[in-house]
Amino acid sequence: GKVAVLMGGHSAEREISLMSGNGVLKALRDSGVDAHAFDPAERDLSELKRDGFARCFIALHGRFGEDGTVQGALELLGLPYTGSGVMSSSLSIDKVMTKRVLLAENLPTPRYVLLRKGQYSAADVAQAANTLELPLIVKPAREGSSIGLTKVSQLSEMQAAVDLAASLDCDILCEQFISGDEVTCPVLSSNGVVRALPVIRIVAPDGNYDYQNKYFTDTTQYLVPCGLPAGEEEAIQKIVLQAFLTLNCRGWARADVMIDQRTRKPYLLEINTSPGMTSHSLVPMSARAAGISYEALCLQVLASAGL
Ligand code: DAL
Ligand code: MG
Repeated sequence: GKVAVLMGGHSAEREISLMSGNGVLKALRDSGVDAHAFDPAERDLSELKRDGFARCFIALHGRFGEDGTVQGALELLGLPYTGSGVMSSSLSIDKVMTKRVLLAENLPTPRYVLLRKGQYSAADVAQAANTLELPLIVKPAREGSSIGLTKVSQLSEMQAAVDLAASLDCDILCEQFISGDEVTCPVLSSNGVVRALPVIRIVAPDGNYDYQNKYFTDTTQYLVPCGLPAGEEEAIQKIVLQAFLTLNCRGWARADVMIDQRTRKPYLLEINTSPGMTSHSLVPMSARAAGISYEALCLQVLASAGL
């Protein structure tokens, strides 16, 4: 039947979602799938039924798309969709809730302090910096693509960083900065078997893998094979797969990880349940290294709809 590629949406990552969605749409069509774009920011999701769509490929990122809300609406409509379900999506979009679940299962994630919008004083902000030590990372609990993220190196920058994150979310995550290799690892389920794909090591200009360097510059280096000792890559794949299963993810996802340069211990930052599929995105790159073309990847993800 007809497939709707959900793209765009209302989140701050709307532009990225349109790039992901257009890539997916073309790949599905090239593979002979009757696929059409559908933007929930422009049309009501209930029209999916009226227009005869049988399944949805979710290429939405961020809130109102990756966070369980669209997933819940599709459940009510009785339409199968790709990727994680309602609970897993809403847990995974929230980096603080993700940490709580990971920590409950003894999975490694950087230390953190949660501040709540309207409830933190200057003393709380200073205390967070004191607890975590500088440099540290401040980010909204539920954004993606580094939107609203600041690496704080001086105490004097801390308040502005917290206020910026608070302008985007009521929950502000202050997180220990792990200095070392920045890596990412996708998980893909195919024919009922869930496996971690090759790890990618990211070397961004000035070590700054921000919004611009994620999507628009060509000077970020993506190393796959990642060049880490085989044991380290396997250890990363193992905790990423554990995180995927612990958070009850489905279909596919991509976990972001930092490796402490001194101890070589990997720390999970978060798991993206609707990862980017743009020309610069990481899941397609890793899949290609595993011998899975962009088209084959889209078809495998599509097959997760209705599992
Ligand atoms: N949030 C972006 C789309 C990603 O993780 O790929
Ligand atoms: Mg993310």
